[in-house]
Amino acid sequence: MYAVLVNGVVCKDPKLVNADDFLFQGLNVMGNTSNDVGSNVTTVTVDELPGLNTLGISMARIDFALDGINPPHTHPRATEVLTVIEGKLLV
Ligand SMILES: *[C@@H]1O[C@H](CO)[C@@H](O)[C@H](O)[C@H]1NC(C)=O
Ligand SMILES: *[C@@H]1O[C@H](CO)[C@@H](O)[C@H](O)[C@H]1NC(C)=O
Repeated sequence: MYAVLVNGVVCKDPKLVNADDFLFQGLNVMGNTSNDVGSNVTTVTVDELPGLNTLGISMARIDFALDGINPPHTHPRATEVLTVIEGKLLV
């Protein structure tokens, strides 16, 4: 038997899929920003939430300390929507 890959991720055998594949808990928890960049990214991708496979979406929580930064990076072939829940962010 061979594995079916979508975007480089193995499609889970439908017989092995369960409710936990569609549940992520933890976006309510603040990340520890005591690091060199003063920010912390909590990612929810197909790695953390298998049910996202093939959907082409992900989500993240980013916490910033005062004057913290999110180092320059790119998201090839992706669109990003950002919502500031509290405070101000220079983008
Ligand atoms: C982000 O926060 C989590 C939860 O406090 C912590 O375990 C992790 O080490 C932090 N990551 C960085 C890069 O500071
Ligand atoms: C946050 O990370 C720093 C540096 O690793 C550590 O000293 C501190 O105890 C952490 N704070 C919490 C609440 O985990």
